[in-house]
Amino acid sequence: MTSLFSELVLILFCIGFSFMVTSESSSGVQALNVHCRESEQKALLMLKDGFHTSLYRFSSWVPEQDCCKWKGVGCNKETGNVISLDLHSPDPSELLQGELMDSLVHLPYLSHLDLSHNDFYQTLIPEFIGSLSNLKYLNLSHANFRGTIP
Ligand SMILES: *[C@@H]1O[C@H](CO)[C@@H](O)[C@H](O)[C@H]1NC(C)=O
Repeated sequence: MTSLFSELVLILFCIGFSFMVTSESSSGVQALNVHCRESEQKALLMLKDGFHTSLYRFSSWVPEQDCCKWKGVGCNKETGNVISLDLHSPDPSELLQGELMDSLVHLPYLSHLDLSHNDFYQTLIPEFIGSLSNLKYLNLSHANFRGTIP
């Protein structure tokens, strides 16, 4: 009786395990097919050009690499559209300084934008921030911007 029971448990375990393996490999295949959009990759590279310090923070931002894999960039796993951009500086030695480029408007699905702890030289918060229609989270804390959010 006991051995029958343990065999049953083993079989159930195997079924469960193969389910896990199958679902994992299918999601893996899906992830391989989804790439960053070329227009969005271009927009990000232009954004990068607006900064002129701490460029080592952008070392993964190279055209040869899918932009969904770049540091700080998050994509929708089904469509490949860029949905989040985390450019906050974890410590003062990695501070980004420069201009916030309006190429951001070419990221139409952007919903999360964190620019905190950077230095935008007390410039006004750019008007185009107001036209990012899918934006749900915007962090400009200690970013050295001035003015009001459009
Ligand atoms: C905004 O960013 C700062 C610094 O990175 C962080 O401490 C704070 O929690 C953030 N605010 C929100 C509302 O997420």
